[in-house]
Amino acid sequence: MSFKLDVVRCGRHMVRCSRSAGARRNWKYPPRLQLRTLATTTEKPLVSSSSDHLKFSYPNANSNLRRSSLPNFWLRDNCRCSSCVHQDTRQRNFNTFDLPEDIQPSQIHTNEDGIKIQWSGDGHESFYPWDFLEFYLNSDKREPEPIKLEYFGTQGPHNSRSWPPTLKYNDFSANETGAVGRLTDFIRRNGFAFVTDVPVESAEPTEKLLEKIAFIRQTHYGGFYDFIPDLALADTAYTNIALGAHTDTTYFTDPAGLQAFHLLSHTGPSSENNSGVNLGGQSLLVDGFYAASILKKEDPKAFEVLSRVKLPWHASGNKGITISPDKLYPVLEVDESTGKLHRVRWNNDDRGVVPFDSEYSPVDWYKAARKWHDILRRESIEYWFQLKPGNLLVFDNWRVLHGRSAFTGVRRICGGYINRDDFISRWRNTNYPRDEILKRVIG
Ligand SMILES: [Fe+2]
Ligand SMILES: [Zn+2]
Repeated sequence: MSFKLDVVRCGRHMVRCSRSAGARRNWKYPPRLQLRTLATTTEKPLVSSSSDHLKFSYPNANSNLRRSSLPNFWLRDNCRCSSCVHQDTRQRNFNTFDLPEDIQPSQIHTNEDGIKIQWSGDGHESFYPWDFLEFYLNSDKREPEPIKLEYFGTQGPHNSRSWPPTLKYNDFSANETGAVGRLTDFIRRNGFAFVTDVPVESAEPTEKLLEKIAFIRQTHYGGFYDFIPDLALADTAYTNIALGAHTDTTYFTDPAGLQAFHLLSHTGPSSENNSGVNLGGQSLLVDGFYAASILKKEDPKAFEVLSRVKLPWHASGNKGITISPDKLYPVLEVDESTGKLHRVRWNNDDRGVVPFDSEYSPVDWYKAARKWHDILRRESIEYWFQLKPGNLLVFDNWRVLHGRSAFTGVRRICGGYINRDDFISRWRNTNYPRDEILKRVIG
């Protein structure tokens, strides 16, 4: 069933003519009643037009809509037709501000699938499916994909079926998209994942594998790295110091989203017999979101202070390089619209001077940061493991802190950073149908 209506301007209001099954009637309404019934089906709302809105009313008066109308200009701006949305780039293909501010429908045509509107002025035709209209009648905006984070401690998450989250290198040749989807989904939910059986003869297979997620990020240190210690030093036993749990690149406006390590080899000093020698170098991961949830529970004020006091961060160790973020950032960034923890930024060595102009004093900050530091060092939340050649570790650097114990001998490590946005894009596109992604991202 469908209806077609001509809409003619009449002073401030509109007079409409309805054609239904060839019949044409005149509609007369008191001017104060902007809402006019144009069309209905048993399931679909009654649609009517006012000077600046399209109004929707459901026959069921109890319908709990978030709103009962959508602005004309908003509708025209969100036309989904192939000339308004570039079909290749999905970009808006017209200048919103060329549209008249008081644009109105001249014809409205409804059917089972949606509403077709012909607009006044240029006579452009738009079609809005019911699911698009009803979504925005019921919701304010599209939300990101729902995700249930699984916090981990020493033993992994509660009720974990498989710990730690692991894939095999061969999974990627068997079904690349499926494997990348599982890898990125593990990282998204659990904060990290391992890929086992990665070739160790060269760094190239590791680099190629990481590039299946997204391109490797360039920084002032370079891009993908393959660190081979100076062999002249390899004859001398040396100890590399322990590193406490931290996130990397706190000094970037947009810290590295993912970080990857692959220990290609670890050999003892050549003067020693390597067999049975404990070379140390245990690796540490700490779930910063889990740690922050503990902080919030045990000391809400400390959580508040670490999320409110914005700090300077810097990288100044290389000649000619002084990097600092675009503005000050707190240790715990909370998303203002959801109230949820969004990002952890923690490397005490890269932190600048605690400022005096915050709502909390430096003394408050040090007290809160000490509590945070103590939680990060609790045995119950530290996840220790030995990096082994063949095992690639990839983790979420916005959530998971990393560190290591002291080690002896020579380690050859390769790895790199991947941008957050590129990681999320890859996760989306390997875990959701394209249609659903476009709906969420574009609307
Ligand atoms: Fe690091
Ligand atoms: Zn259009």
